[in-house]
Amino acid sequence: MLGAGAIGCLFASALRSTGPVTLLLREATAAAAEVVVERDGGASRVSLPISAAAQDGAISHLLVTTKAYDVRRAVSAVAHRLTPACQILLLGNGMGMADELRADFPHLALYCGTTTAGAYRIAPLHVRHAGRGATRIGQPGRRLAPPWFSRWSRTVADCTWDAQIEQALWLKLAINCAINPLTALHGCRNGELAARPELALQVARLCDEIAAIAGAAGYSGVARQVHGAVADVIAGTAHNRSSMLQDVAAGRRTEIDYISAYLLRVAARCNVPAPANAALLRRIRALTAPRIDPEG
Ligand SMILES: NC(=O)c1ccc[n+]([C@@H]2O[C@H](COP(=O)([O-])OP(=O)(O)OC[C@H]3O[C@@H](n4cnc5c(N)ncnc54)[C@H](OP(=O)(O)O)[C@@H]3O)[C@@H](O)[C@H]2O)c1
Repeated sequence: MLGAGAIGCLFASALRSTGPVTLLLREATAAAAEVVVERDGGASRVSLPISAAAQDGAISHLLVTTKAYDVRRAVSAVAHRLTPACQILLLGNGMGMADELRADFPHLALYCGTTTAGAYRIAPLHVRHAGRGATRIGQPGRRLAPPWFSRWSRTVADCTWDAQIEQALWLKLAINCAINPLTALHGCRNGELAARPELALQVARLCDEIAAIAGAAGYSGVARQVHGAVADVIAGTAHNRSSMLQDVAAGRRTEIDYISAYLLRVAARCNVPAPANAALLRRIRALTAPRIDPEG
């Protein structure tokens, strides 16, 4: 498993119950490490072998749970270990990472997933499970699950093989595009996007554009669902602070390049105007650009 953060530790800990899992870290100073997952007032502890990316040792199955902008570099760092038949599962937010990997490693089998499970890091390799959720995994064009998926379905709660994973990824992208940047810009919880009329109007404009782009890109089912799905998520997560809001507040890099910027690349390819999404992308980039101190 590559990307031992909040989501990585959550899934590594679950998968350990049905087979071996190795944590791939940038550097390893010991042979094993304890992963702690807190939930429902208790804590589970599992000891997992660790391996530095640069070491040797063949990898036949790779779960990638880094942030979107780290996927390419992280996988490149273990490229020498990937077997020719290696199965790689990308389980993070955003789109475009699979395209980058396909360009770098055209021979590898790539799978994509999306999860609504929630977790956050308390300390290195110590996470708190913040909410149960559904996980969908698939490979574009593949109807039946590969053999390794049976371990996932036995281990991970509410985990399904999705023969139309692209639709699920697009719907998730649409929801992220409509909610994350706007909450980050206004420093508000998700529910305010419905409660404040001026923000609700902006959400509607963003959704109109996103639906048009999804339709033009061939995802007409997603186009029909965008407005309703975004409204449902805003209502269902009204008290949450989006991950992008948390990243901006903490001065961390956001995943905007794999969310709104990806959407806008598709919009340009399909000749669909998207001024509201483009303006939002510009404002998030301005908000997170490194500041230059004129005093030196
Ligand atoms: N957290 C959630 O509830 C949640 C829910 C759904 C989806 N997601 C998505 O899941 C993805 C991961 O999110 P997260 O919250 O788990 O992020 P996170 O806590 O920051 O974890 C990412 C991990 O990847 C590691 N990493 C980055 N580059 C690496 C490299 N080259 N080699 C080895 N490890 C590397 C990071 O290490 P360092 O910290 O040392 O850089 C960090 O431990 C994101 O796309 C996020 O949007 C998260």
